[in-house]
Amino acid sequence: MPRSGQNTLEKTASNPPPNFDMNRLDLFPISTKIKNDRLTVAGHDLAELAEKNGTPLYVYDRATLDDAALGYKSALASSYPEPASVTYAGKAFLCLALAQWTQSHGLTVDCTGEGEIAIAAAAGVPRENILAHGVNKSNEDLKAAKKHAGIIVVDNLSELNRITNLPITNPPTLWLRLLPGVSVTTHHAHTQTGHQESKFGMTRGEILEAANLCRENNLPLNGIHFHQGSNFRDPEPLIPAIEMALDLAKEIGFSGEWHFCPGGGWGAAYHEDELPHPSIESYVRGIAEAVIEGCQSRGLDLPHLHLEPGRSLVARAGVAVYRVGAVKKRGDKTWLLTDGGMADNPRFALYGAGYSCLTVSGVGGERSGKVSIAGPYCESGDIVIEDLPMPKIKAGDLIAIPVAGAYHLSMSSNYNGARRPAVIWLEERDARLIQRRETTDDLLRRDLPLG
Ligand SMILES: Cc1ncc(COP(=O)(O)O)c(C=O)c1O
Repeated sequence: MPRSGQNTLEKTASNPPPNFDMNRLDLFPISTKIKNDRLTVAGHDLAELAEKNGTPLYVYDRATLDDAALGYKSALASSYPEPASVTYAGKAFLCLALAQWTQSHGLTVDCTGEGEIAIAAAAGVPRENILAHGVNKSNEDLKAAKKHAGIIVVDNLSELNRITNLPITNPPTLWLRLLPGVSVTTHHAHTQTGHQESKFGMTRGEILEAANLCRENNLPLNGIHFHQGSNFRDPEPLIPAIEMALDLAKEIGFSGEWHFCPGGGWGAAYHEDELPHPSIESYVRGIAEAVIEGCQSRGLDLPHLHLEPGRSLVARAGVAVYRVGAVKKRGDKTWLLTDGGMADNPRFALYGAGYSCLTVSGVGGERSGKVSIAGPYCESGDIVIEDLPMPKIKAGDLIAIPVAGAYHLSMSSNYNGARRPAVIWLEERDARLIQRRETTDDLLRRDLPLG
């Protein structure tokens, strides 16, 4: 299997079609190939999968998931001398099968709230590998965390007070979430979490107050955490945040076995103009070096280092397959209207996210102009892609959108009565349904008649 990199364009009758954009293929899972001008992932023909399972359809390539997890683990092993762990941020996409997969790599699973904790626990993720997050945890979230999680990351002082009052015999250990007041550079303000005005985490003063509260109440505090934002490529703003967290660790008096997590957020390439994929290795090495130097200069013991990626683990593994239902020309725009859109992928509507795509059959056909792609929902913001050069596409054709593995289905909705798509897990010689398509019965399941 190729590692982290180039997809192979299998020669069929001829060499790559003259207009074929090899870069665009590199956005797809690492096992993607073109056979007879048709897209395949892990040897499975996407058009056949779409025929069999319907569209919109999501597929996840196990080889790409494994490659990313191993990338993180080997980068940590080569750059950090003390224990280090990778936590998968379940908010990117969590279901039973994905939670099970995390355990094949021994990952910790970051669960936001009772719902995600329930999925991880049902998948058999052991207590020590469940970490409970949340910016405003309810008492139910805290009870679920108490029952199933090994670590709770405390977001604020009132949450800590509620934890103090919970009857806990075998409590999860606690980490404190710092608001560093420095954000990373992301595509949109809504994906930044570390800036001064952010709702997440505690200020320096609040962290020290929380540490005191833990001491007074004999709570098992042993770590500090921050997360500055999602989908960044420049690790520079991590440095002042790491420095601030280490200053606090020193002031709190962490020593021996203590834990430090500078969050996740490492980016993914969504469009050929953003290639190459951001290097996991250089990101991890940068953090490890800053932590080692920062601890040495403060006389701190090296912590158990945790990284908490979501997107950079799963985004590239996922592909969304949509069917085009109609083509409309409106002024300079050519709209392809597809059966998927903001209900399964709200990222354009939320923050103008950009994407690319390929046709599923006839891949590499000559480009005939730019198209914009919109879904079937009653919102003008229901857009998937704007102004992308594509070959001629007609109603009935299939398109495949790469980098669809993170923050699509986990943020999906039933808007306009949409039923969430089926999800297929792909390995060589195995294509397995891991989430069935929702039905109209599912839509009605929670409803009660008036009389
Ligand atoms: C606390 C925390 N950790 C990790 C992540 C993962 O971010 P990403 O999927 O961009 O790596 C997030 C995402 O919002 C987060 O809020």
